[in-house]
Amino acid sequence: MASAMKLLGRSSLASPAAAAPGRERRGGPCFAAVGREGSAHRRRSSLRSTAPVGALAERVVVTPAPPERAGAGPPEPHPQSVAARAVVTVRRRRKEDAKRRVAEQLDAYADRVGRSVLLELISTETDPRKGGPKKSRRSALVGWFEKKDVKTERVVYTADFTVDGSFGEPGAVTVLNRHQREFFIESIVVEGFPSGPAHFTCNSWVQPTRVDRNPRVFFTNKPYLPAETPPGLQELRRQQLSDLRGEGADTGERRITDRVWEYDVYNDLGNPDKGAEFARPVLGGEQQLPYPRRMRTGRPKTITGKPPLSHDRAESRVEYPEPIYVSRDEEFEDGKNEMLSEGALKALLHNFMPLLVSSVSPDIRDFAGFHDVDNLFKEGLRLKQALQDQLFQKIPFVRKIQENSEGLLRYDTPDIIKSKPAPMRLPPPPSMIHGEDKFAWLRDDEFARQALAGINPVNIERLQAFPPMSKLDPAVYGPPESAITEEHIIGQLDGMSVQQALQDDRLYMLDYHDIFMPFLDRINALDGRKAYGTRTLFFLTAAGTLKPIAIELCLPPMTDGCARAKRVFTPPADATSNWLWQLAKAHVCSNDAGVHQLINHWLRTHAAMEPFIIAAHRHLSTMHPIFKLLKPHMRYTLKINALARQILINGDGVIESGFTPGRYCMEMSSFAYRELWRLDQEGLPADLIRRGMAVEDPTQPHGLRLLIEDYPYATDGLLLWSAIRRWCDAYVAMYYPSDESVQGDTELQSWYREAVHTGHADKRDAPWWPRLSTPADLASLLTTLLWLTSAQHAALNFGQYPLGGYIPNRPPLMRRLVPAEGDPEYAHLVADPHRFFLSALPSLTQTTTFMTVIDTLSTHSADEQYLGERPDEAWTADPAALAAAREFADEVRRAEEEIERRNADTGRRNRCGAGVLPYELMAPTSGPGITCRGVPNSVTI
Ligand SMILES: [Fe+2]
Repeated sequence: MASAMKLLGRSSLASPAAAAPGRERRGGPCFAAVGREGSAHRRRSSLRSTAPVGALAERVVVTPAPPERAGAGPPEPHPQSVAARAVVTVRRRRKEDAKRRVAEQLDAYADRVGRSVLLELISTETDPRKGGPKKSRRSALVGWFEKKDVKTERVVYTADFTVDGSFGEPGAVTVLNRHQREFFIESIVVEGFPSGPAHFTCNSWVQPTRVDRNPRVFFTNKPYLPAETPPGLQELRRQQLSDLRGEGADTGERRITDRVWEYDVYNDLGNPDKGAEFARPVLGGEQQLPYPRRMRTGRPKTITGKPPLSHDRAESRVEYPEPIYVSRDEEFEDGKNEMLSEGALKALLHNFMPLLVSSVSPDIRDFAGFHDVDNLFKEGLRLKQALQDQLFQKIPFVRKIQENSEGLLRYDTPDIIKSKPAPMRLPPPPSMIHGEDKFAWLRDDEFARQALAGINPVNIERLQAFPPMSKLDPAVYGPPESAITEEHIIGQLDGMSVQQALQDDRLYMLDYHDIFMPFLDRINALDGRKAYGTRTLFFLTAAGTLKPIAIELCLPPMTDGCARAKRVFTPPADATSNWLWQLAKAHVCSNDAGVHQLINHWLRTHAAMEPFIIAAHRHLSTMHPIFKLLKPHMRYTLKINALARQILINGDGVIESGFTPGRYCMEMSSFAYRELWRLDQEGLPADLIRRGMAVEDPTQPHGLRLLIEDYPYATDGLLLWSAIRRWCDAYVAMYYPSDESVQGDTELQSWYREAVHTGHADKRDAPWWPRLSTPADLASLLTTLLWLTSAQHAALNFGQYPLGGYIPNRPPLMRRLVPAEGDPEYAHLVADPHRFFLSALPSLTQTTTFMTVIDTLSTHSADEQYLGERPDEAWTADPAALAAAREFADEVRRAEEEIERRNADTGRRNRCGAGVLPYELMAPTSGPGITCRGVPNSVTI
C-alpha cells in the first residue's frame, strides 16, 4: 500500500489536471468531465499496469489531497479521489427460447428506468472509523438497454466509480442483480487505480435479488493464503465460505439457483415408490456397503418402504431431463449441452427402432450372424424389407423417421474394426498407415494387447507366485488355489519352467475371481445374465507382447455341497476348442468390461473425486492458491455425476441393463471400494508397483523400471504423471516454504480433513491416508488428484466406443455359460458356432442401447479444455505461477510429440504394426467428437 500511495502522490504531482478548479470536491468528477482533460490521462498512462484494458484507462484521474492533510516536512501531495471504471464481461446463452428473450427485453427496459445491476468496490484495507472494509458507493452497470439487441456471445458493460484517494487497492467487487433474470459474468476488470488493473475472474451465474437478496462477491485474482488475506477481505472470505457450506441456510431441498455444496450418501439410485423391484440399497454410511459421498440435493424422502440394508428411507428421484440439483455454477455450459442433446436424440432413435422391431417380430432380437453386427455401421438400423413393410403398415411415421434421421440412425464404425488415421502433427511414416483389420479382435495377440493398451489397461498384474490364490474365505468359497496347473501352461512358456518364467517376470494375469465370486449366485439367477469369476494367465514373449496361455472360469460352490466348478481352457487345437476358447475370452472381456466401468472408471475417478471437489468449494476460498490450481480439474464433474445417478448407474438404468451384474452393479462397485480402494495407491507409480508391473529404480527417468517395457498406458502415463508432478512441485513451492506453512494453512487442512472424514467417511479410519504435513505431501496429493481427473480418466473413458462399440470385441454382458460336452447347448455350438457365439452376447436391443450410451460417453464436446490449457488466462495474478503454468503446458505438448513418435516406432509392437491401433488415449489434445484421444483437465463425461 505504501508504494501505491507513493505512486499516487507522484501521479498527482505530475498531473496538471489535478489542480484544475472544481475537481477537488470529494467524490471526484464525473467521467464526462474527466474525459475532456486529455493531457491528464496521457501523463497517468505511465503509471498503469502492463495489462491495460484498452481505452477505459483513459478516464482515470487522481486528484491531490488538500495541503492541510499532508504530513510534516516537505509538503507531500496527497490524492483525494480516484476515478475508476469496472469493465464487466457478460456471457449470453447461445440460444434463448422465446420466454427468455421476452424476459431479457423486459430486463433491458427495467434497467433503463432504474432497476439496474449495481456494482461496489471493496478495498483490501479496512476503514478504521467503521471497522469493516472500505467500500465505494454502488454504481450501476451502464449499457444494458443500449446493448439489448447485440447478438454477440460476450457483451461488455461498464460501471464508473470515484473513491477516496486513500481507498487502497480493490480486492473484491460485489454485484447486485436487480433484474428479473440471472446472468453469467465471465470477468470484471477494474481500471484506474495506481496499483494497476485489478482482475476478477468470475465465470459465475449471478442470481437476481428476488432469488438471493445478498450481492455476489467476487475476489481479485491475486492469490492469498488464509493468514495473508488483506484485512479488508478477511471477513468477506470467511463469510463466503460459510455461505457455500450452507451454514445458516435452511436444510431443505436445494433449488437449482443455489450455490451450496453439501454431502449425502448414494440413497437415490433406486425408486421404491415405483415398486419393490426398483428399490436399491443405500451406498455409503453403512459398514456393509461403504461408498464415497455425493452432492446433497435435499430432495424429499420416498413415500414407501425402506431400501434394503438401510436404516433410512431413500431420497425421491427426479427423472431426466428434469434437472437434478448441483450448485448453479456446476451446470454444463451451452456447448456441452448441445453435444449431449444430440446424443440424447441419437439415443432416442437408436433405442426406438430396435424396440419397434422387437415389437413386430420377437424372433429377430438376436443377431443372426456377424453381418448383422456389421450392418449397424453400414446401413444403420435399416430394416429388412419385409419387416419394414410390416412396420410401415402398422406405424406409418416410421418411414418419416427413417427418411429424416438417416445419419443419426447409422452407428459410426468403431476404430477397432476400421483403419485409423495417422496422428495429427507428424507426417505419417509408412509404418503408421494402419490398415483395416476387422478380424483382429478374434486373435489372441489382440486380446492380450488390449490388456496393455486397451480401455482397461489397469488390471493386468505380474504373477508373483504359482498357482494364483484367492483371498476369499475358503469356508464360503472353497479352496483358494486356482485350478490352473503347470501342465496347462508348460507348453506355452518357450521352453521355460513355470519357476523360471516367474523369476524372469514373464507371467502376467488378469484376475477377476475375487471381485465376481461373491456376486455370482445372484447374477446367474438373473434372467439372461451369466458370468464366471475369471482368471487369465499371459506369457510375455521375447517380442515384448503378451499371449494368453490359460483361462480359468470359476463358479461358486454348489448349494448341495459339491465341489466348486472350475474349468480351465488353453489355446485351441481344433475348431470346437477354438470356439470354446473364444467364448471363454468373451467371458473374460465381460468381467473386464464390468470391472472397468463400475470400478476403475466410475468409482476410482468419477465417484472418488466428488468429495474432494465438494470439500474444495466448502473450505478453499477462490483466493486460495490451491483452489486456483484445482479449479480447471473440477469442471463439470459434479454435474456429470448427477446425470449418471439419473440415467446411468440408477436402478434399471443403462449400466444395470448393459452389464452382466445387472441390479448388483453398484453393490459390486461398493464392494471394490471397501476391499480395494485406497488413495495412497491411486497415483500411477504406486499403482504400477502394487500390480507388480514396475519396480522402483532411481536410475530410470521416472524412478521406475517397467517390467513390460512396451506397456503403452504406463509409458505414456508416466510422461503425463511426471509433467503434473513437476507442475505441482513448482506451484506448491511458491506458496509453502516450510512444513509449518502447510500445517498452519487452516483452509487447506480443513479441505483435506473434510474430504477424508466426511467425503470418504466410511474409510476415514483407514491407516493409509496420506498425511498433509509438508510441502512434499501437498504436491504429492495434488499430483494424484490432477492425475486422476485428467490422464487416468481420459485413458479409461474416451476409448469406450472406439474399442467397445464393436460388441464382439468386448461384450459388456454375457447371456450364456460356456457349454461342456454333454450339455444340450453343446450341440448347438457345434452345429452353428457363429450363431451360438452371438446368442451368448447381448441382444440387438441391449447392444444398440449400450452402443448409443458409450458413443456419447466417448465424445469430446466442443468446449472441452485439455491438459495444460486454461481459457481463463487471468486465473492468477502471480507471474511466477503463470510462468510455471506455461512450462507445464510446454511439457504436456512435448509429451504429445513423444507419444506420436512412439506410435510410429515399429519396435513397439503393442501400439504399432499391421492393423494395430495406435495408443493415443493419453495424447493430450483432440478435436471435438469421438477421437480416441485427448486428455481433458477434468472428468467431464
Ligand atoms: Fe467418464
